[in-house]
Amino acid sequence: MTDSSSSHVFADRIGRIAVSATMAVSAEAAKLRAQGVNLVDFGAGEPHFNTPRHIKDAAIAAIEGNFTRYTVVPGTPDVRKAIVERHAADFGSDYEIGEAVFTTGGKLALFNTIQVLIDHGDEVILPVPYWVSFKDIVQYAGGKVVFLETSEAENFRVTADAIEKAITPKTKAIILNSPSNPAGSVVSAQDLERIVHLAHERNIFLLLDECYVYLNYAGKPVSGGSFTWAKEHIVVLGSLSKTYAMTGWRAGFALASKKVAANLSKLQSQSTSNATSFVQKAAIAALAGSQQCVSEFRAEFIELRDHMLTRLAEIPGVTCTKPQGAFYVYPNVSAYLGRGGIQTTAELASRLLHEAHVVTVPGEAFGTTQHIRLSYPVTKQNIDEGLRRMKEFLTNLA
Ligand SMILES: Cc1ncc(COP(=O)(O)O)c(C=O)c1O
Repeated sequence: MTDSSSSHVFADRIGRIAVSATMAVSAEAAKLRAQGVNLVDFGAGEPHFNTPRHIKDAAIAAIEGNFTRYTVVPGTPDVRKAIVERHAADFGSDYEIGEAVFTTGGKLALFNTIQVLIDHGDEVILPVPYWVSFKDIVQYAGGKVVFLETSEAENFRVTADAIEKAITPKTKAIILNSPSNPAGSVVSAQDLERIVHLAHERNIFLLLDECYVYLNYAGKPVSGGSFTWAKEHIVVLGSLSKTYAMTGWRAGFALASKKVAANLSKLQSQSTSNATSFVQKAAIAALAGSQQCVSEFRAEFIELRDHMLTRLAEIPGVTCTKPQGAFYVYPNVSAYLGRGGIQTTAELASRLLHEAHVVTVPGEAFGTTQHIRLSYPVTKQNIDEGLRRMKEFLTNLA
């Protein structure tokens, strides 16, 4: 089938998006691994820890107890209670059960929120570098992404001043992801408050992706959800994936005004319906149980980040901002572009994969042209070996 005939077969909206770059990298790496190639994997965006025992036990007990049927679409009142109570305890928010929706992963909370809020032509402000899916999900809904450049010299920090300049009469929403994937940049508490004011006063929705909110190494985690007076314009997008090492469980949520939450639930009622029943029980154990695992994970991530930065600094010509959160580093590799026939970071990542057997994600996926993303939830030995391979490959480029 030719391209032109396929354009008559498929809906216009599916042509507006691409396969998630990080998933594409994982698929390519899996092929090599299946051929017996020993890879060092800095590609995956997930913790290397196992899901804590008490969370697994709650799911097992739920299955054994036959908690295996449909639940109400936005999740049981118990799981929504656990979500709002955790958020209130940690950030001082005041959401009610009817303002929470439990979803099949944080990505679905984002996808549904965009579908509910964004129409054709609506502008959505998105700071660069951005997590791959934000752009595609907005484009799938027909929205126009307005990219907001940030400065590498300032740690890719998003400021209220920059946001204010990007606002136009067509701005419908602003997406903030702090700490961010891929650069680990954090919006300061002062800037966050000003951005909440800006959004609220101008009738703009602020979508706060808090996937890494507990992995903030710059200070005490903050949430825009704590500005309770602006609730009407705020949607908090949460995920249990990274916080509790639960990426495969698919557990996320949205916190929003009753009106927005009702529409998220309406949309979900026509697609996935409730998220998996026994995952809801596991989520309650995660959110309402001891949070010691969260601080243990956080402490280890800080150590791994520092180890990664030390090793990266040993590669001549590579520079890197110090990530203030999440679990990625985003080094600038421009010193090696134009060498060995490599022009783009996509080519560099591909050569690193096939020749040095190191998995990375090219910066083009996140909207920049001089970086690659390395995910550091691996062992220190893996960091040492992966960066040894990278250094050898790069310094041998003619
Ligand atoms: C910034 C950001 N938001 C949301 C997600 C989605 O997480 P999940 O769907 O596993 O909850 C991810 C996952 O990589 C992410 O990096």
